[in-house]
Amino acid sequence: MKKFDIIIWGATSFTGKLVTEYIFKKYGSSKIKWAIAGRNLKKLEKIRYQVADENIPIFIADSFDEESLSKFVKKTKVVCSTVGPYSLYGTKLVKLCVDNNTNYCDITGEAHWIRSLIDRFHEEAKSKKIKIINSCGFDSIPSDMGVYFIQNEIKKINNNYAKSIKMRVAGIRGGISGGTYSSINNLLKEAYRDKSIFKVLNNPYGLNPKDKMEGLDKKDLRKIIFDKESNSWIYPFIMAGINTKIVRRSNALSNFIYGKDFRYEEAMIAGKGISGFWKAILAVFPLAMIGLNPNSFLKKIVDSFMPKPGEGPGIEKRKNGFYNLRFYITLNNNRTAFAKVIGDSDPGYGSTSKMLAESALCLAFDNLSDNYGVITPSSGMGDKLLNRLKENAGLSFELKIK
Ligand SMILES: NC(=O)c1ccc[n+]([C@@H]2O[C@H](COP(=O)([O-])OP(=O)(O)OC[C@H]3O[C@@H](n4cnc5c(N)ncnc54)[C@H](OP(=O)(O)O)[C@@H]3O)[C@@H](O)[C@H]2O)c1
Repeated sequence: MKKFDIIIWGATSFTGKLVTEYIFKKYGSSKIKWAIAGRNLKKLEKIRYQVADENIPIFIADSFDEESLSKFVKKTKVVCSTVGPYSLYGTKLVKLCVDNNTNYCDITGEAHWIRSLIDRFHEEAKSKKIKIINSCGFDSIPSDMGVYFIQNEIKKINNNYAKSIKMRVAGIRGGISGGTYSSINNLLKEAYRDKSIFKVLNNPYGLNPKDKMEGLDKKDLRKIIFDKESNSWIYPFIMAGINTKIVRRSNALSNFIYGKDFRYEEAMIAGKGISGFWKAILAVFPLAMIGLNPNSFLKKIVDSFMPKPGEGPGIEKRKNGFYNLRFYITLNNNRTAFAKVIGDSDPGYGSTSKMLAESALCLAFDNLSDNYGVITPSSGMGDKLLNRLKENAGLSFELKIK
């Protein structure tokens, strides 16, 4: 019998503090059994003082020290991790979760790291009936749960699943934290050192089971084009690289329930006409700067302007943030449909902290399907998570069939 329901690993991170605040506001210190963990006692005590109270237990551990990690991993039903870059700090923790029959969720967007977890731990976690669920933040819950919602609604009405879905980001307002920027940089550094990482990143099916890595989808959009569906210029969406792979893994894990020829893609909407075209050009410029070779001089200049670990968008920016995702759907009889997923606060932190907290609560308390292993939000938590997102996390899901 585990003593705790949830332990938040990395409560001192920008996102971890928000998750701690969310769970404390909802449950206080006694309605569920939970604790916070990190490497620095003083910082953890400060967080506890600011957003919770002294009844919340604290665990001290270091990502590289198995003994200290296992002291808290053993004691909890769920570890909820915000310590990233995950490929630097996350592997020992996941291994210990599998060793100690502990469910796990995080907010990584590092596809190459998820691939390494699948290869090392999927089969063992599956046989031990443990759920290891990555990408429970803005990447990739709105995409993965959006497709899950759409497909289930379409199936009820049309008696068949949609054959293609194109997600377009129609509006988004928020900011970036130092931890996210450092995770993007770390991914680039690792990929420039080890070119095999690009194989995972460039393969649309890079997170599928090894014998199921084929399908009709091509690489994510890398240029500006005019898009018929949205009647607008579109340009690359930075999160597409992880989101589309998670959606395809969900399909593969459910025995290709949406069909082996199901197609999914994502892009950003810029608008119509010449102004839309220029908007797309201006938006692509910062993306190109972020994606520069990490060893280049120009990249070092860009880095100096970006937030440092621990920093991120302030409360006003988070409250005034939002996202509006449109899904253009083609059914198997070529009829079309349209869906929206809307989030009520900034994607990366306000909304992500609620989605991650609800995922951890879902893993700890809900009666979930028998899908185990290194899996995805929709394949591991399905309807139970969908309801939590709608009821508690400020997400809305809407479908219209034309
Ligand atoms: N999916 C999404 O939508 C989404 C959204 C937001 C963030 N993220 C990801 O979440 C991660 C966290 O981002 P953030 O900005 O919140 O991070 P952050 O503020 O930079 O915090 C990093 C955390 O890692 C801890 N840490 C570093 N080295 C450690 C070690 N050796 N042992 C134990 N803890 C260690 C830090 O502890 P100290 O405080 O003691 O230094 C801190 O708690 C990043 O990977 C980011 O990409 C994803």
